[in-house]
Amino acid sequence: MQNSEVVMVGLGYIGLPTAALIAQNKVRVHGVDINPQVVETINAGKIHIVEPELDQAVASAVEQGYLYADTKPVEANTYLIVVPTPFKGKNEPDISFVESATKAILPLLKSEDLYIIESTSPIGTTEKMKNLIYTERPELKGQLYMAYCPERVLPGNVMYELVHNDRVIGGIDEVSTEKAVNFYQRFVKGELHKTNARTAEMCKLVENSSRDVQIAFANELSLICDKADINVWELINLANKHPRVNILQPGCGVGGHCIAVDPYFIVADYPMESQIIGKAREINNYKSFWCAEKIKNAKLEFELQNGRKPKIALMGLAFKPDIDDLRESPAKYIVQKVLQNANNEEYYIVEPNIETHTVFKLTDYKEAVEKADIIAFLVGHKEFKELRLLKDNKVVLDFCGIDLK
Ligand SMILES: NC(=O)c1ccc[n+]([C@@H]2O[C@H](COP(=O)([O-])OP(=O)(O)OC[C@H]3O[C@@H](n4cnc5c(N)ncnc54)[C@H](O)[C@@H]3O)[C@@H](O)[C@H]2O)c1
Repeated sequence: MQNSEVVMVGLGYIGLPTAALIAQNKVRVHGVDINPQVVETINAGKIHIVEPELDQAVASAVEQGYLYADTKPVEANTYLIVVPTPFKGKNEPDISFVESATKAILPLLKSEDLYIIESTSPIGTTEKMKNLIYTERPELKGQLYMAYCPERVLPGNVMYELVHNDRVIGGIDEVSTEKAVNFYQRFVKGELHKTNARTAEMCKLVENSSRDVQIAFANELSLICDKADINVWELINLANKHPRVNILQPGCGVGGHCIAVDPYFIVADYPMESQIIGKAREINNYKSFWCAEKIKNAKLEFELQNGRKPKIALMGLAFKPDIDDLRESPAKYIVQKVLQNANNEEYYIVEPNIETHTVFKLTDYKEAVEKADIIAFLVGHKEFKELRLLKDNKVVLDFCGIDLK
């Protein structure tokens, strides 16, 4: 294989589609992943994640020799860091993956190279990596271009959004920003907005925090309305008739690996200043706990009124409607909480988007609804919204606006 122009470190949900897109544009990409199985799968022209259109893109890029995967980096002109940035301890961001990815490419760097971080990162990470690189390679000081460019694609539509979304690009200096913009211009049709590295880092965190705060407002309303005996769905619908009001829908909490995670990256570093952002996380987490308590209370009430234990359908496990992703899912948390010290025989657990689960025994959604005395809707899956089977004598706990016919 000829020399690679780009090294992509991290070949997961974001790194692999990005590598494939760049390679589709006839730029040689050397993809790096510490997981040898990932490397082997990609070099066989296959993929290890679920994402529409990615399989063809990887297969053709590998076949034409524009994409090659490896566990080790090689020399290139541009290095992209797209590794995980999880939590450690008590909601502290862990940038050790970004650090070790940077250390792996350190010996290969040369004057005029472009280094870009795409991983969601706490403010100041790009600056920290600059200091790390120049401490280890002082002879390169001031000779590298470094930038931060966050990713905002929607899983399920990544191959389209990678090309068409606007992007925010922030360099450690203006010339770095320009170099990074020139790089992305080759693959991206969306607008490329220039800023500095810290603002770009914060921009990614703020996008998800803003969603989290808005959902927390809706969830808080749902708690108030429950106590005040007001239908929250009707209330929000009416309030949104105001031309300048747009309240989101409440749910059983907030999940996934972005909205439920990224706000902590701000709160951890700015605890005194980020009062609303921190509180929103608490409210959204509390909403899940509250839903679990509601289900347990409905069970007790049913027993008192009917002199027998009810059958309970727990509808949904995914973190949002119509997907099979259970990461950080509030519905899964609620199911776990409700099943603690309970007799599993009393519950039907439903998730129409997955066939089986390692812990939960799944039941078909129509069967569960038919047999259950109490039905708790945790996720607004389209199958649930089409249900017309309910009998009047069932207790329905609607935590996600199913609005049964
Ligand atoms: N998935 C999304 O929808 C999404 C959206 C926006 C931003 N992000 C951010 O993008 C970053 C990557 O997320 P992802 O979903 O692609 O993660 P992922 O877990 O799917 O993939 C990361 C890959 O990096 C590899 N890896 C870990 N350490 C490495 C190292 N030192 N060297 C080489 N490879 C290494 C892992 O083996 C894994 O295959 C994260 O910061 C995430 O927050 C993700």
